[in-house]
Amino acid sequence: MSQQKALLLEKAKGSFVVSDVPILKPGPGQLSIKVIAAALNPVDWKIQAWGLFMKNYPAILGSDIAGDVEDIGEGVEGFSKGDKVFCQGYFVNEMAGFQQYTLIPADIVGKIPPNIDYGQAATIPLGFSTAAIGLLQAQPQGAGLNHTFDSKISFSGQPAFVVGGSTSVGQYAIQLLKFLGYSTIITYASARHTNYLKTIGATHVIDRGEVSVGSLAEAAKKIANAPIEVAYDAIGDKDSRAACTDIVVEGGLIIDVNPEAKDPEAKDSGNGKRLISVIGTSHHPPNREFGRILWKILPTLVQDGTIVPNRVEKLRSGLAGIDEGLQKMKADKVSGVKLVAFPQETI
Ligand SMILES: NC(=O)c1ccc[n+]([C@@H]2O[C@H](COP(=O)([O-])OP(=O)(O)OC[C@H]3O[C@@H](n4cnc5c(N)ncnc54)[C@H](OP(=O)(O)O)[C@@H]3O)[C@@H](O)[C@H]2O)c1
Repeated sequence: MSQQKALLLEKAKGSFVVSDVPILKPGPGQLSIKVIAAALNPVDWKIQAWGLFMKNYPAILGSDIAGDVEDIGEGVEGFSKGDKVFCQGYFVNEMAGFQQYTLIPADIVGKIPPNIDYGQAATIPLGFSTAAIGLLQAQPQGAGLNHTFDSKISFSGQPAFVVGGSTSVGQYAIQLLKFLGYSTIITYASARHTNYLKTIGATHVIDRGEVSVGSLAEAAKKIANAPIEVAYDAIGDKDSRAACTDIVVEGGLIIDVNPEAKDPEAKDSGNGKRLISVIGTSHHPPNREFGRILWKILPTLVQDGTIVPNRVEKLRSGLAGIDEGLQKMKADKVSGVKLVAFPQETI
């Protein structure tokens, strides 16, 4: 078998179409992975709508991958054909999730622990990486809170804040803050997610149906029992950034999912507040070494329950169901779950 199905974005801002493309052989250091589950992310609809990132068309998208090792490139050790693995895709066709087979460098691939399935595993790579790079990776890529995932480092007694706790990234940021030992983890989300967010580590949920983003800083400071030094903005718009800037104390850190985020208020006010704009991928060279550490430790963190996957909403019709899922995301109709497609179910 030399051909597979892939979801092609025909041209910049064009349409998606399912088509036949060749299955590639892994190069040195790479694994070929049979993609069983591929999760959708906001970046996928943004690429289609705004023409971002992709240099060549037709383009294959998809940053979240779970599947089976199909073939092993020269020099790769520690993997066997049939191993269940998960990993992050990249913005080039040969390393993307919306196809039936993909290639990924083996040093940033993890084995799926037995307590989760392929769909759950596919919810983790991009969201977790974005939370982890932002919070843990050394500065300037991240806030530098614990770049080796050292379990002895603890911020016990301190409060931290997450805007957008029910987003995929926000859920992983909450869990990582708990891993870091923060005692008070305050988040801003719709009230319907309160109980769930408390099960994954939030201590306080401020209802975004009740408290406006403009009043958020005041509400968060009231709850915190100490100055807030770290705020993770999983929304990344002007208002959420302003709230985080206001929430953190002088010298504090604002971590923003918007890779282009610039905040003169944080940078130039002389108050020493620092804005970290996250590029949430281990494929990106400054994050590669951190990524290797992340992908070594992540399976253990998932197996011992430190990190739980996002809740899954399964899409039907394999690759053909992805377009509809992306339009749903774009219309803001996805709440607290991750949409996951199963490429092998493509007819
Ligand atoms: N820099 C990077 O490398 C990187 C990587 C990954 C993601 N991102 C970006 O990070 C953002 C989050 O991505 P994601 O995949 O985690 O999102 P997601 O899971 O698709 O987010 C959906 C959630 O957003 C919540 N939400 C929307 N507006 C909100 C607001 N103003 N305040 C609080 N919650 C709000 C909704 O909450 P309710 O249902 O509770 O109302 C919904 O549950 C996106 O903009 C994405 O493009 C950046």
